[in-house]
Amino acid sequence: MLNLCHWIYQWRNPKCNEILPPGSMGFPIIGETFEFMKPHDALQFPSFVRKRIIRHGLVFRTSLFGGKFIISMDNELNMEIAKTNRTIGVPKSITRLFGNNNLFVQSIESHKHVRSSTFQLLGPQGLKLRVIEDIDLLARKHMEEGARNGFLDVKEAASKILIECLAKTVMGDMDPETAKELAICWRKFPSGWFRFPFKIPRMGVYDMMKARKRMMNLLKEVVLKKRASGEEFGEFFKIIFGENERGKEKMSVENAINYIYTFFLIANETTPRILAATVKLISEKPRIMQELQREHARIVGDRSEKDAALTWEDYKSMTSTHMVINESLRITTTVPVVLRKPDHDIQVGDYTIPAGWTFMGYPNVHFNPEKYEDPFVFNPWRWKGKDLSALVSKNHVPFGAGPRLCVGAYFAKLLMAIFIHNLCRYRWSMKVETTVTRSYMLMFPQGCDVQFSEDTKVD
Ligand code: HEM
Repeated sequence: MLNLCHWIYQWRNPKCNEILPPGSMGFPIIGETFEFMKPHDALQFPSFVRKRIIRHGLVFRTSLFGGKFIISMDNELNMEIAKTNRTIGVPKSITRLFGNNNLFVQSIESHKHVRSSTFQLLGPQGLKLRVIEDIDLLARKHMEEGARNGFLDVKEAASKILIECLAKTVMGDMDPETAKELAICWRKFPSGWFRFPFKIPRMGVYDMMKARKRMMNLLKEVVLKKRASGEEFGEFFKIIFGENERGKEKMSVENAINYIYTFFLIANETTPRILAATVKLISEKPRIMQELQREHARIVGDRSEKDAALTWEDYKSMTSTHMVINESLRITTTVPVVLRKPDHDIQVGDYTIPAGWTFMGYPNVHFNPEKYEDPFVFNPWRWKGKDLSALVSKNHVPFGAGPRLCVGAYFAKLLMAIFIHNLCRYRWSMKVETTVTRSYMLMFPQGCDVQFSEDTKVD
């Protein structure tokens, strides 16, 4: 009994060489996870965070998912930690779900290598050369199907486009059976699987781990088959399996597959949801919708052939669409954008952020009325005359910052723009009762379908 009391005391009062930021560690093991994950309005920070800021100030401590956390709403501190720390901050209970030998949590060298390989593929050069046409074709196909059916689930359609396009870019051509099975595995990923990150039968994580195992085997089979037959790999494999200066392969098959899996998972959990929320925001503003329809009709009208593929110049010319995307990324980013695990104690005023704790930085700056007038209003026109191609600036950090800046940011923006381009060639609406909430991830309790009108094609 005495031991139990001592353990609870230690849990509530973690050891630190200096003074910890104020806060509470909640109940043993579960900490304050349930309150943290409570669904909230997607365009507001969670009440969990807002309440604690009032009580403790901009930096406080807590415990989530079985780990120790420092949460910060202090923009300067967030940027400093983002730029000076390289180790990703995800609690053990969650990294386990990505696989233990994951490159994102391995050495700095392997992390640098995967980042530069990914940028070769998904940076502007790679997108311009290979990816833009694939996304456009897939988006057109889904939109035509949606218009025939009269409705389209935005999140699901975007997820299918994303997976199909990434799979082709990364793996090269796959036999249709394998491609189909991979898609089925993705659908077995329960929404919000990580909310309770423990492997208990019939809980989200259990199913997710089973689907993960099957997917990893499928991916491995494809790679080994291609290797044995000397068949062409996708660009990404060509890059990562390239040889280093000493003539040695840069990455093992296991590591490459694990990387691809994580990469697909992150891509699929972010972009389709943000896109669906963006479509909802557009649907509420007829003037913005009209402006987008005008912009995309102009792009199609300027083509020598109406059905010609979308070009990089077309993409660059979508000024209103880029403003809508930047604004949506600003206003929907009510989650942490900096996740780090400092490897040494960091002094912040009177307090210390201890080494080994997870640091989560929220982009408070996105809602600062001095930087954005009426910050809770969705107003794309506030981006007029601003640099629309920058991924990160002092006041706009939806993709994080520093050595862990999102590697899929250019791809995500391209996919969102092409989806909107193809959608706005139709007359569409979204039901008023569609709501967007957040339980860490964006959620759509009433679904996220768009309805197409009868006389639907605009151009
Ligand atoms: C709108 C959609 C997206 C948003 C808002 C987003 C946001 C973020 C953020 C905030 C980070 C953490 C950065 C940090 O800690 O400094 C991140 C990391 C990452 N993102 Fe994204 N992301 C999106 C789409 C994607 C896509 C489509 C992919 C893949 C194609 C992707 C792959 C990654 C990877 C691999 C990392 C980890 C990078 C590293 O550890 O070096 N993301 N993302």
